Amino acid sequence: MPQIVVLPHVEYCPEGTVIEAEPGISICDALLSHGIEIEHACEKSCACTTCHVVVREGFDSLNEAEEKEEDLLDKAWGLEPNSRLSCQAIVADEDLTVQIPKYTINHAKEGH
Ligand code: FES
Repeated sequence: MPQIVVLPHVEYCPEGTVIEAEPGISICDALLSHGIEIEHACEKSCACTTCHVVVREGFDSLNEAEEKEEDLLDKAWGLEPNSRLSCQAIVADEDLTVQIPKYTINHAKEGH
C-alpha cells in the first residue's frame, strides 16, 4: 500500500507521521482515518478549501484536478503549484508527501 508522509503540523500532527493509504481513497479520507483531523468544512464535496494540502512528493501520481477544484484552490490560504484539495485528490499507487498548510481560509477570517 502506498504511504503518505505527513509533514509536521502544529495542530494536527506536531511530529509529522507516516500513514498507509489504500489506492482509490482521497488524501482527506486517508488522513482522517488515521486520526489526523484535517478540516473538511463542506464534507468533502469540493465546495470549501479547508482541506487544502500541498503535495510535496508524488503530485503527478494523483488524478488531475477538475476545474471546480482549481477555481476553489485559487482562494485557498497559502496556495502553491502543488496544492490540492485533499478531498478531491485520489491516492494512486505511489507514495506521497503531504503538507497541511498552517492556516485555512477559516482561520484567516478569524484574523490569525
Ligand atoms: S472538504 Fe471542502 S473542498 Fe474538500
